[in-house]
Amino acid sequence: MLPGCAEVGELTGLALVTGSRVGRQIAFCGAKGGAGSSTLAHNVAHLISERMGANTVLVDLDLAFGTAGLDYNQDPPQGIADAVFSPDRVDTAFIDRLLSKCTDHLSLLAAPATLDRVYDFGADAFDAIFDTLRTTMPCIVLDVPHQWSGWTKRALVAADDILIVAAPDLANLRNTKNIFDLLKSSRPNDRMPLYCLNQVGIPKRPEINAGEFAKAIECDPIVSIPFDPQMFGAAANNGQMIAEISENHRSTEMFRQIAQRLTGRGETKKPRGSFLSPLIEKLRSK
Ligand SMILES: Nc1ncnc2c1ncn2[C@@H]1O[C@H](COP(=O)(O)OP(=O)(O)OP(=O)(O)O)[C@@H](O)[C@H]1O
Ligand SMILES: [Mg+2]
Repeated sequence: MLPGCAEVGELTGLALVTGSRVGRQIAFCGAKGGAGSSTLAHNVAHLISERMGANTVLVDLDLAFGTAGLDYNQDPPQGIADAVFSPDRVDTAFIDRLLSKCTDHLSLLAAPATLDRVYDFGADAFDAIFDTLRTTMPCIVLDVPHQWSGWTKRALVAADDILIVAAPDLANLRNTKNIFDLLKSSRPNDRMPLYCLNQVGIPKRPEINAGEFAKAIECDPIVSIPFDPQMFGAAANNGQMIAEISENHRSTEMFRQIAQRLTGRGETKKPRGSFLSPLIEKLRSK
């Protein structure tokens, strides 16, 4: 078994595929451009890896404009483009070389964020990359760009868990409902998608509140993250995570709640005991 795989059961409830454990794939997508989906994906992946100790890879699927490299203060020479443009070479060793190590438990499969190529892909272009990552990584966080194409739809439908990030306005509400309905009908036997509100409370901006979202979507947002330009701006410009700046910031607490929901913690189904259990119990009681 490859490094880190023993932890997979902790995250998946011992998902078994052809006899071997596979990593849990968690997709973040914005209901509308700029809703904060990437920021949340990066911060939550950081908490899953650093505070829960699960080996995690953040996959930046916004090849043209992705910000994970900036947010994690990494400037890797290679990344996801090398893999998606060389499908025949994709295997564990090849993908491993493309990962940049941000911390002991967090790796990044970075977007090139260059415009010399265009990034039109077939629906299954990322399948081999995801399949390979799932054999080595307990937790795979996908930062899915806000676009609707064969491969983005496939990445969402195939994910174990999905978080839709919405700002509190009408267009975000409509899009959240559409994405929700589509995902519920295309994966009826899988876990329901989740959504959260972000950038709540921009001064003077009329908003659609959490209750109205809940009525339209028929479930509550898992958190409502306040608009905090000072903290989010500082983190983005310094290449830091919000938990690194302030462990006790209210957004850090909300990222923690998201991490717990997405990794299965806090759900009624208790994972089998492992060497991580005491740590998880400690985190829960906090
Ligand atoms: N709660 C918040 N308060 C203040 N600023 C925020 C908040 N959440 C995100 N931001 C800021 O909003 C901007 C857009 O965030 P981000 O890039 O994560 O959005 P996105 O949904 O990934 O956008 P895109 O559609 O381009 O992928 C960033 O500058 C980020 O720092
Ligand atoms: Mg983004």
